[in-house]
Amino acid sequence: MSGRTLEAYLHEFTESSGAVDANVAQTIRLFAEAAVRMRLAINDGALGDAFSAVREAAHAHGDEQKELDVFADELFLDAARRARVSFYASEELAHPVALDRSSEIAIAIDPLDGSSNIDTNVSIGTIFSILPSKGDEAATFSQPGSAQLAAGFFVYGPQLAFALTLGRGTSVFVYSARLEAFVEAYPQMSIQETAQEFAVNMSNYRHWDEAVRHYVNDCLKGVDGPREKEFNMRWIASMVADTYRILIRGGVFLYPGDCREGYSAGRLRLVYEANPIAMLVEQAGGKATDGTSRVLDITPKGLHQRSPLVFGSSREVEKVALYLSGSSGT
Ligand code: F6P
Ligand code: MN
Repeated sequence: MSGRTLEAYLHEFTESSGAVDANVAQTIRLFAEAAVRMRLAINDGALGDAFSAVREAAHAHGDEQKELDVFADELFLDAARRARVSFYASEELAHPVALDRSSEIAIAIDPLDGSSNIDTNVSIGTIFSILPSKGDEAATFSQPGSAQLAAGFFVYGPQLAFALTLGRGTSVFVYSARLEAFVEAYPQMSIQETAQEFAVNMSNYRHWDEAVRHYVNDCLKGVDGPREKEFNMRWIASMVADTYRILIRGGVFLYPGDCREGYSAGRLRLVYEANPIAMLVEQAGGKATDGTSRVLDITPKGLHQRSPLVFGSSREVEKVALYLSGSSGT
């Protein structure tokens, strides 16, 4: 094991910088500790308290919000409070929580991504975005993703992994139980430019626009079709896990808008899902769009607003944009 620890990485980051960066680094430290605690709760699976609540919620009340979501939200809120951030905006909460208004940074977070996989022993995660604080909640969370100071996600999978960007590239850390530390496993990730795999929920095929169907149809035609290559398909239904795979071996992820009620802008939330993923992907040399335009340029109109999302290998994301703008040429 030769990589730097997360602590060494953060230390290097703060050495030559000011108070805001120190606040960012401290937040990341405390989030990393929270992720280790999440991992312990998840490891207990059906034997632990968090999961018995999941079963009760799902079966007794048909409740969408699982107990593990709430556990995660409370854990990361507590970490944000100790990190002294100004506002904590979570997928789990209708409104941001005001913490230390004098702080210059704010958090937007999806505490438990991939919640349909909680009780199936499939990877789930936590996604977060760190933004400069702008005095009030509305101004802070209506900044475009390009304003983010840092972004990251944890994957609670076969490994506890952490993808992080501080705006100087994207690194992936893996938690070493032996060292009791996150260790940098992939410094300066670089997503390959071309893709052989696409990730999309194919069961929505009939709800998509013709242009999305056209793109997927052409991928399915493989080497004999206009794309002249074979494509593989993967859909984990945990965006963190799909993103992790794309960081490691390339590919493209699509969650377009569709014609189901409430899905005209897809499923994913701009401020605490699409934006942090887009920053991590761009910092690793990939691209992220709403189908045609750069995600990080969108000005959010609401904390929980959705955005169509396409990201991954740069040339494939560009290809999708050609199809969606009607100029695929095939
Ligand atoms: O958080 C939303 C999410 O669970 C993502 O992690 C995942 O990519 C997507 O929704 C799954 O959507 P669907 O249920 O349509 O497969
Ligand atoms: Mn999510």
